[in-house]
Amino acid sequence: MFPLQRNRRLRTSKAIRSLVQENTISVNDFLVPLFVVEGNGIKEEIASMPNYFRYSLDLLSAEVKELWHLGLKSVLVFVKVPDNLKDNKGTEALNPEGLMQRAIKTIKDAVPEMLVMTDVALDPYSSYGHDGIVENNYVVNDPTTEVLANMSLSHAQAGADFVAPSDMMDGRIETIRMALEEHNFVNTGIMSYSAKYASAFYGPFRDALDSAPGFGDKKTYQMDASNRKEAITETLLDIQEGADIVMVKPGLCYLDIVRDLSNEIETPIAVYQVSGEYAMLKAAAEKGWLDHDSVMLEQLMAFKRAGASIIASYFAKDFAKLL
Ligand code: PBG
Repeated sequence: MFPLQRNRRLRTSKAIRSLVQENTISVNDFLVPLFVVEGNGIKEEIASMPNYFRYSLDLLSAEVKELWHLGLKSVLVFVKVPDNLKDNKGTEALNPEGLMQRAIKTIKDAVPEMLVMTDVALDPYSSYGHDGIVENNYVVNDPTTEVLANMSLSHAQAGADFVAPSDMMDGRIETIRMALEEHNFVNTGIMSYSAKYASAFYGPFRDALDSAPGFGDKKTYQMDASNRKEAITETLLDIQEGADIVMVKPGLCYLDIVRDLSNEIETPIAVYQVSGEYAMLKAAAEKGWLDHDSVMLEQLMAFKRAGASIIASYFAKDFAKLL
């Protein structure tokens, strides 16, 4: 009771504030998304993601070396697939010489200790821009999970440390886990996008990969933004099926979900601060309406405070350079 308790005593100086600081954030917490394209000498800025780039393989090496020097030790790889290689079966996703498979090798050659996680979903490979195989305007589940398992195997064979299924099909974690086990990839991890919402915040990402759905939306597989309990159901199932890390996506609008999960489970939780979140802050900062670095730090800390231990973020490099 006042004045016995004056909460401001613990805020009087920088020293005392740092002593009672409840959460911290460091380069160890980050997963860096990388966009890869075919070609040579390409480092092209993504229009709706200022200061974020797509790299061709030759320039990717230098980029991952730089990340490593900044203390960023984990990447999450996405590829932009040429239109003529897209179909409704994910054929190119299984090509051992495909762009993803070559990207994995390129990164491992450049920095062997870099942890390489790969996106597993069909949308960059799909002529429909959907995360799975389309039949009668519907993304079919079981045939899709079979392809995702083969895709995961192909990434593991190319040297991926973790596969990260982002498709939200039912049962895909178990199908992938069993395929990896059968082929002796017992230490290849799975980071499941377990609570992934059908979100309008993915817009800039779809620009980056030219992967917007050709018809309809993704609401028959990604989660409804109004739901909270369903995130726990989805996540517990993925853990049972063999997920090593689970994820909530997008980030800021879904911090309640991160907190719910963190109260409920012991599995490491990742959060994905998605492209639209990045674009919003970059735009506001460009206009001089928000202070970029302080808002960035405040947002990143919010993820830790909510209970995430891993943050996938396009701000990773900005954060590391600020230190
Ligand atoms: C697709 C995928 C998406 C993102 C990651 N993987 C887009 C989507 O589901 O349509 C979004 C990432 C971002 O917006 O930064 N499987």
